[in-house]
Amino acid sequence: MAIEKVMVVGAGQMGSGIAQVCAQSGYDVLLNDVSEEALQKGIQNIEKLLTRSVDKERISEQEKNDTLSRLNTTTEIQDVKNCDMTIEAIVENMDVKTNVFRQLDAHAPGHAILASNTSSLPITEIAASTNRADKVIGMHFMNPVPVMKLVEVIRGLQTSDETYEAVADMAKKLSKTSVEVNDYPGFAANRILMPMINEAIYALHEGVASVEDIDTVMKLGMNHPMGPLTLADFIGLDTCLYIMEVLHEGFGDSKYRPCPLLRKYVNAGWHGKKSGRGFYQYS
Ligand code: NAI
Repeated sequence: MAIEKVMVVGAGQMGSGIAQVCAQSGYDVLLNDVSEEALQKGIQNIEKLLTRSVDKERISEQEKNDTLSRLNTTTEIQDVKNCDMTIEAIVENMDVKTNVFRQLDAHAPGHAILASNTSSLPITEIAASTNRADKVIGMHFMNPVPVMKLVEVIRGLQTSDETYEAVADMAKKLSKTSVEVNDYPGFAANRILMPMINEAIYALHEGVASVEDIDTVMKLGMNHPMGPLTLADFIGLDTCLYIMEVLHEGFGDSKYRPCPLLRKYVNAGWHGKKSGRGFYQYS
């Protein structure tokens, strides 16, 4: 069954980016969120990015208008009834995600594939909350979605080959490069990235160096395009903490314990760039 119509669930930083690349690649997109305000903000964000691409002559005005015409919004999850595929990008919390997957499973057509953009939660467990575990898969985009080339495609224990092929094919149509990953805590990307970010936070916590100097070490010393503390602010410190907790619990290994300073910042509501304050301040 060809994928033509896609519901993206969650209109935050990742969901709006996923909706944008899907619409730009010719898919009909229904963007869903529980908050009407989040939907409006998501669409405004997409418009802003498309306008910038027109200004930089990367796309034409016509392409921008065509993309926007393929994007619709809804606060009703039942509207998934005409969709061939869903990509969920809501908060990184298993209970909230499985609740949404149960609703998607109840209302989506039988052939529809249900994907999650989770950064770290087990796909196998998300799949088990539905009656179509063979059609549940991880589709982990990187932030910012319109810019970053990689998609980790994560196979849960019961994901079928047919589902995997359809999603890998879709990633290609979105002009992304996909990698095939098995379902282990943090998958591949965050199993490697997050312990580095957590260690950078420990270095700050222990007074090894300042925020700016830790970032400079990794930028100029290791040729990373962005320091780990800046990157943590961009990802969201709440998301970083969730992922470290998943790694810690999933492997039962103390090397993955989240730094107390990360927990303190999250408890203070310092969630990084999206909240205006993380390791840096944003106006
Ligand atoms: P965000 O906080 O920017 O957006 C989440 C959105 O989901 C909000 O608009 C919220 O209103 C909505 N939402 C919450 N519950 C909902 C529900 N039941 N139904 C519909 N919408 C609901 O979060 P962000 O950063 O976009 O992350 C979303 C997911 O993507 C998480 O699973 C995260 O781990 C993953 N992710 C995040 C990356 C990042 O760099 N921030 C990178 C890759 C994956």
